[in-house]
Amino acid sequence: MNQEELLQAAIEARDLSYSPYSRFAVGAALFTKDGRVYQGANVENSSYGLSMCAERNAIYHALMEGCAGDDFLALAIVADTDGPVSPCGACRQVIAEFFPKDSQIILGNLRGEMKVMSVGELLPYAFEGGDMQ
Ligand code: THU
Repeated sequence: MNQEELLQAAIEARDLSYSPYSRFAVGAALFTKDGRVYQGANVENSSYGLSMCAERNAIYHALMEGCAGDDFLALAIVADTDGPVSPCGACRQVIAEFFPKDSQIILGNLRGEMKVMSVGELLPYAFEGGDMQ
């Protein structure tokens, strides 16, 4: 699956967004080394702080299907933004927890604009488990 196809899978996931409060729908699609795709969309709540982002839903979806971070190759994220969508800080931290350093994080929008970043570019000087040893 190429970057455009993974973005398309993220756009399809975005259609399942539950975002009646922000009206900002986000979709994500995670690609594994053995070719599996796991999708996620943002799911909001009337108690706003309980809302969950698309990226984390896709990552947790993959983990709940038995994948490990080592299996992760790429993550596409898409929203209806002017430029490629910018993932929130919480999602950058969760991406850094599970994705290998050399994986591709593909940021897109509905106009087909795309920006590909590494995990390190997305969250420089990340706090990691090893920092507590
Ligand atoms: N949102 C995401 O799904 N991912 C991000 O990286 C940024 C924000 C969602 C959360 C909330 O449902 C809506 O976008 C507005 O913040």
